[in-house]
Amino acid sequence: MKAPDGNKLAILNALNQGGFVSGQALGEKLGISRAAVSKHIKTLQEMGLDIFKVTGKGYCLNSQVGLLNKTQIDQHYKALGANTADVEVHPIIDSTNSELIRRIQAKTALESGTVIVAEMQQAGRGRRGRVWQSPFGANLYYSYFWRLDDGLQAAMGVSIAVGLAVYDAIKALYQIDVELKWPNDIYINKQKLAGVLVELDGQPQGPCQLVIGIGINLQMPESFSQHIDQAWTDLNQHTQKLDKNELVASLTYHLEQRLVQYRQTGLQDMYEQWNSLNAFAGDYVELNTGHRSWRGICEGIDPQGGIRIRQDGEVKSYYGGEVSLR
Ligand code: BTN
Repeated sequence: MKAPDGNKLAILNALNQGGFVSGQALGEKLGISRAAVSKHIKTLQEMGLDIFKVTGKGYCLNSQVGLLNKTQIDQHYKALGANTADVEVHPIIDSTNSELIRRIQAKTALESGTVIVAEMQQAGRGRRGRVWQSPFGANLYYSYFWRLDDGLQAAMGVSIAVGLAVYDAIKALYQIDVELKWPNDIYINKQKLAGVLVELDGQPQGPCQLVIGIGINLQMPESFSQHIDQAWTDLNQHTQKLDKNELVASLTYHLEQRLVQYRQTGLQDMYEQWNSLNAFAGDYVELNTGHRSWRGICEGIDPQGGIRIRQDGEVKSYYGGEVSLR
């Protein structure tokens, strides 16, 4: 996947201010010719960015999403009554999760609550070794670092809390009720809107570290849809008022709230709400663990976060695998 270099990023930043910018103004700003500007714009268009030109006016970036900006994230975050967020913004990265994992492995000082967001991931990762499509500027690629002292076992249900935090953030900003698919996918009308990849490191009983990666489709370019192997949607199809910086702030705020709740009482006060949002409630599903599969009616989750499936009149809980509709 191609990534924008310094000049293309500078052009994007100029266009991201909104309105039209002439080729001449861009050329002067960057110290390059208009022909070079036009070549960079062509490459950006090929990457999926919707940039159009009007004669006499110049170029305009048609984005409902905008670009990431740390100052704006901080402003939105403070407006929620929180302190400054510990957010790092990267234009391009291999994977926001991989970056946090590298820092854990290098024993770099890392504050619980550190957030890394990027405009593009060159090696975005999904669950079960899948690729996560991460075109530039289109979607949200977000990772949150969290430390828990209660051991890996205690962290097992955290995906459920994270799914609810994504629900909270989207509900608060756009009044949309997303649905949740076990263990941690976010759906609208049975189409995938967002995915969560939680990666754990640490002791079964002692301190452990979690990297909570969240990818939310915001304005997925049509050219990328052919690479996605399941029904998907993006937020742009459901709301007109998208602001990536506001979403980062809201997500961070709600994630913190849910993680505090999880640390205090586990899923005790969350699992019933999760069940009320279950995308596959009462549906005939298949649970596939990679080695075996089970079919039955999806009955929601138990208080430990396991998925309950009814087979031949008996309900059993399972703690790993992937659920799909049958
Ligand atoms: C899935 O549904 O398979 C999980 C997708 C998780 C994608 C996010 S995007 C930010 C973070 N960095 C990654 O490489 N993956 C997660």
